Amino acid sequence: MTQPFVHGLEPADRARVGREILRFNHRLAETGLFTDEALARLIDEHPRSELTICTMKENPPPDETWIAGEADGLSGAELVEAARRGALWVSPRSAMTRNPRYKAVFDVVMADFARATGLKILTADAAVLISGARMGIFFHVDPAETMLWHVRGTKTIHVYPPKEDYVTEQALEAILLKENLSDLPYRAAMEADAAAVDLEPGEAVFWPQHSPHRVVNGPNLNVSVSVEFSTPRSALTNGVFYVNGVLRRRLGARPTSRGTPRALEPAYWAAAKALKVLSPPKVNVERNHQRQFDVDLSAPGCIRWREGFGPSVGRAA
Ligand SMILES: [Fe+2]
Repeated sequence: MTQPFVHGLEPADRARVGREILRFNHRLAETGLFTDEALARLIDEHPRSELTICTMKENPPPDETWIAGEADGLSGAELVEAARRGALWVSPRSAMTRNPRYKAVFDVVMADFARATGLKILTADAAVLISGARMGIFFHVDPAETMLWHVRGTKTIHVYPPKEDYVTEQALEAILLKENLSDLPYRAAMEADAAAVDLEPGEAVFWPQHSPHRVVNGPNLNVSVSVEFSTPRSALTNGVFYVNGVLRRRLGARPTSRGTPRALEPAYWAAAKALKVLSPPKVNVERNHQRQFDVDLSAPGCIRWREGFGPSVGRAA
């Protein structure tokens, strides 16, 4: 492929990078890596322990959470079929960096993105998201820079301002210190300042760091690539939040990360690096989700609830 993967960004857009919601276009579908057959092969090649399988209510409310499941014994092709027919979200985590065929493309994609935006990218990782009609992701925030490259189907991402009223400094600290995953308190009043971005195949969106967001799929199978990356600026910002999180917890300090002078940020970043080495966060909350169902192509929504779970016992999504 001689044309860049990224298009639709003009030099004038550089001033908006990281400050506003930025929309652009991409050519990921042309690689052939996102067809049903290619996705089935990707899942077969991917370690099952690194495959997220979950379900949730259709058109999930913003404060809804997802429910983890398993798909032992099912092939990649069966899982793609289950995502098409059922109420499922299937995601090979880090697929774009772990699988050599996808990594070859991802490296070029990120180089194109860096060139188009002027960003210096330090680290980058990305998951492939395969999800059914009307599935979604609840209101949350990611600590890293994040963006979504949409490949198949339609979806709407709701993006909220990265301000204290939407995502408090204490919430960000808890996420960076790994006390919490990425959940945030949600209030219906927040919708007034949310931007609803509709995504068609070939469209991508990049929002300012620490902007809370949620996603709702259209009435079709969705395939997207969810990218997270760091830049010198995002690393400095997170260093400040991390150190202030430690100060607040250990010394009872009341720091304000958003008010930290930029000149002090490198010192915070160095301190954060040292603290992470000296006292790594103890809990890995990511692995503690109880599996409540098995994927079953013959079950309603392809969800076979395990004993004690599901709508009949009032604990389903
Ligand atoms: Fe996210």
